[in-house]
Amino acid sequence: MDSIGIYLDYNASTPIHPAVQEAMAPFLAGPYGNPSSGHWAGAPAARAVAHARAQIAGLLGCSPGEVIFTSGGTESNNAALLGAFWAAGEGRRHFVTTRIEHPAVVEPCRFLERLGAEVTSVGVDSQGLVDPGDIAAAIRADTVLVSVMHANNEVGTIQPIAEIARLTREAGILLHSDAAQSVGKVATRVDELGVDLLSLAGHKFYGPKGVGALYVRAGTKLEPLLHGAGHEGGRRAGTENVLLDVGLGAAAELAGDLAWAEGVRELRDWLWGELRSRWGEQVALNGHPTQRLPNTLNVSFVGRRGAAILAAMPEVAASTGSACHADSNTLSPVLEAMAVPLAAGAGAIRFSLGRMTTRGELEALVERLTVAAER
Ligand SMILES: Cc1ncc(COP(=O)(O)O)c(C=O)c1O
Repeated sequence: MDSIGIYLDYNASTPIHPAVQEAMAPFLAGPYGNPSSGHWAGAPAARAVAHARAQIAGLLGCSPGEVIFTSGGTESNNAALLGAFWAAGEGRRHFVTTRIEHPAVVEPCRFLERLGAEVTSVGVDSQGLVDPGDIAAAIRADTVLVSVMHANNEVGTIQPIAEIARLTREAGILLHSDAAQSVGKVATRVDELGVDLLSLAGHKFYGPKGVGALYVRAGTKLEPLLHGAGHEGGRRAGTENVLLDVGLGAAAELAGDLAWAEGVRELRDWLWGELRSRWGEQVALNGHPTQRLPNTLNVSFVGRRGAAILAAMPEVAASTGSACHADSNTLSPVLEAMAVPLAAGAGAIRFSLGRMTTRGELEALVERLTVAAER
């Protein structure tokens, strides 16, 4: 972490937690055998991968055999969507998703369309919430799978996954949820959510980058993306990435304790209170006021440009909700789906807090914002 910077982009990526670093360190130099080898050199590596798998299963409340290691959230989403399409029976080729998904769901859906699938994307309300009634209306006789993210990466709105699961169960179809942003911030036990498939990304919950997992409920048919020597129970070929899997397991163990999230919620709400008291109606909250990730504050500086504000305080790492070009502003698809007016959306900044965020950092942010936004 850069000590002179104010890092408020934890939804983009988190630092590797010291406890995770400690768990991983011995595996850099340590067991080098192939986990698939039956001899003395392979056994400790196999044990380490099994332990990590059990740690993830513990977090999700599933059995270790239902966890597949992947290279991250993107691969998990691709494996779920494409795998379900290729495994679906003859004549079933319809998918339902939403307009606020991450590109790691949107783009596989575009690819599915090129493969002959049909995709229905349902909208959201002004707070970014999906209406389960809209999902019910979109389900057809030939629907294979519904994919709705658990929590949105830009505005943090948490979707009613358990309610949607009741619909997909009744229809006898699969429910996938991209939980890359919710794991370690809110509860993500698969039986409470009712999902058949759930995507995780290590670097969003204090684990390493380039590793993730896909929960696959026992009995779910998926065609693998990667064919080879039958690793991961024949569901994802390739020698296990022992070092990163160990890191993901340790991060999952850490993520099971959500006590820290209450502290970060208080800090986040303090920041919002400060912004409101300084700018009043000139700042607007994007996302659901309560049904939202505890660390996420997406705020519009109405009539200003988020990118210009961030450019004026380069020591602050945060994200905007719009892409600015010389003569035009384009809102992110998420803010557009929420029908945020351009004058507000162009001024959107996402501050995402994390375990290492301090009150002092937020106080410094407010001071810098005061100068930058008044310019
Ligand atoms: C909601 C969501 N899904 C998927 C991803 C992609 O995860 P990864 O970077 O591990 O491929 C991200 C990362 O930004 C995300 O926020």
